[in-house]
Formats: sequence, C-alpha cells, structure tokens
Amino acid sequence: MATKTILALTPGHPGQLEALDKDYTILRLWKERDAEQAIKENASNIVALTTYLAPVRANLMDALPNLEIIAGGAVGFDHIDIQAAQDRQIIVTNTPDVLTDDTADLGITLMLTLMRRVVEGDAFIRAGLWTKTGFPLGHSLRGKTLGIVGMGAIGSALAERANAFGMHIVYYGPRKKDVPYPYFDDLASMAAKCDVLALTCPGGQGTKHLIDYNVLGHLGQKGYLINIARGSVVKQDDLLVALSNKIIAGAALDVYENEPNVPDAFFVMDNVVLTPHIGSATYETRTRMGAMVVENIRACLNGKAVPNPVTLEHIN
Ligand code: GLV
Repeated sequence: MATKTILALTPGHPGQLEALDKDYTILRLWKERDAEQAIKENASNIVALTTYLAPVRANLMDALPNLEIIAGGAVGFDHIDIQAAQDRQIIVTNTPDVLTDDTADLGITLMLTLMRRVVEGDAFIRAGLWTKTGFPLGHSLRGKTLGIVGMGAIGSALAERANAFGMHIVYYGPRKKDVPYPYFDDLASMAAKCDVLALTCPGGQGTKHLIDYNVLGHLGQKGYLINIARGSVVKQDDLLVALSNKIIAGAALDVYENEPNVPDAFFVMDNVVLTPHIGSATYETRTRMGAMVVENIRACLNGKAVPNPVTLEHIN
C-alpha cells in the first residue's frame, strides 16, 4: 500500500515535522539534490504539503494530483495561490492568533530601537567613539502619533502596546473597525498626521506597494516607517530614495520585497534598523505554530474539519 506522503517545502517549526514523522512519510524538499525529480517520483503519494513562506502556485498544485491540503506555517498566506487551491478543491490552512503578541512586541521593539538610536549607540561604543565625542539625541514615543496600516489582530495588539507608551493612535484600512481610534480612509492624509507609520496589514495584491514615494512624502522629514507586515506593501526603491534624500527620518524593517535578499544600499544608512523577518520568531510561538500545522494536516487527512481554513473570503 502506498504511504501517505507530506511534502515539506521548508524546514518546519520546532517539533512540527517530527510529530508528523510518526504517521506519514515526509519528503523534506530542501534536502533533495534534485527537487523537481523528487516531486515527480513521489507525486501520486503526496496528499499534504506544508510550507512556511516558500510560494505554492498553481503549477505545483497541478504536479500533485492527490493533494488534499496546503498547510501554511504562517499567519500570512500571500505566498499561496488561494484561488488556484480553491479551484482544485485543495484545502488551505494558516496559523492565526498565536503569533499576534510576539509580532506586536517586535513592532514596539523596532520603534524604540529606531527612535532611541539603540543600534547606532551600540555601534558608537564598539567603534570606540564614546571617549571622543557625544552621541546624538533620539526621540520620545510619548505624545507622538502612530498611524497603523491594517487594524487587524496584530494592528490592535500594537495599538494596545503603543497606548501604554503614551502614543496617540490613528489607523487606515479598507474599512472602519470597532476600535476607539480615529479612522482614515485615505492613507496619504493619515501619513501627514503621523510621526510613525506602522504596517501590520496582510500582503498580497490588495496591499502591494501601498507605501510609495507619495505616502512617504506625506509622512515627512520627521516621520518613521515600521514594517512588520510584508515587504510587498512597500515600494522598496521608493523607500531607499526617501531615506537617502531624508524625505523621512528613518525606517525599521523586518520584511523586504525579495527575502532573504536585502539591498546593500540599506547597510550604509544609520537611520535604518533591519531584522530578518522575526515577527513570530520565538521558540514558544513557533512551537505553537508548528502544532497548528500538525493539527490541520491530521484533521484533513482523517476526514475532519480543519481548525484554521483560509478561503477567498479571507482575501476579499
Ligand atoms: C510570518 O510572517 C507570518 O505570516 O506568520
């Protein structure tokens, strides 16, 4: 009898693939010398696929005739073609909620790191400059206006934290939400009122290049950009120009347009803080995310309702 096989495009979260190893054959694609050949040889046995952020498009689905579920290991699913999956009656799942706090914590961390010049201060000491010269002043969070782009779970958690730091909160998104903060339906107008613009919206076509030179111009010379959403939300070339021309004061970025590639131009800018997509990257949260992937796959392959389905309604 053929063994049910799970195709893993990327290494799982802690414990994730080990938990599935017990009952299924796992094809760990990154370990294969010829990935395409490995998929071809196992195609008819592959009933489930799991990925963290590696893309899953229609051509891969077409190569797997018995695929029942694509279990995403992230809350975001812009790397999975949901329409193509739905057309082929393949279930898609994600890992919502469990990473909300850690991601919002990172948003605050980046804001403080950037505005209080923490990375610059570290470099200043290591370069032996403290004994020779003074260090420039940073900026307080208290009293500043934070504009949140995308008031979903992570946006709300960020707002809650920023509130505790004495910031005023405003937000932009496709629709007004039931939250006690002023809503803007025009992003540039909101940016003009903000000291900090923080991105917490989903990625994908609907938010692609939402932040361009025009919005950055409205944010202005004293404004900071924080991106903990997706690199695609920002027109990266426009951001580079805005930073080097001091159109905005600085940026702290956890996500980029073409990860893991980050333009060298950022590396020489002291008004930029860079982290390698670590919003959910704690042992505790990634372990929970891994457990959710396992639950979704097990439910699907046992003919039960999956706990975290993603459908086209989540996009529209
Ligand atoms: C990470 O970026 C996620 O979407 O979970």
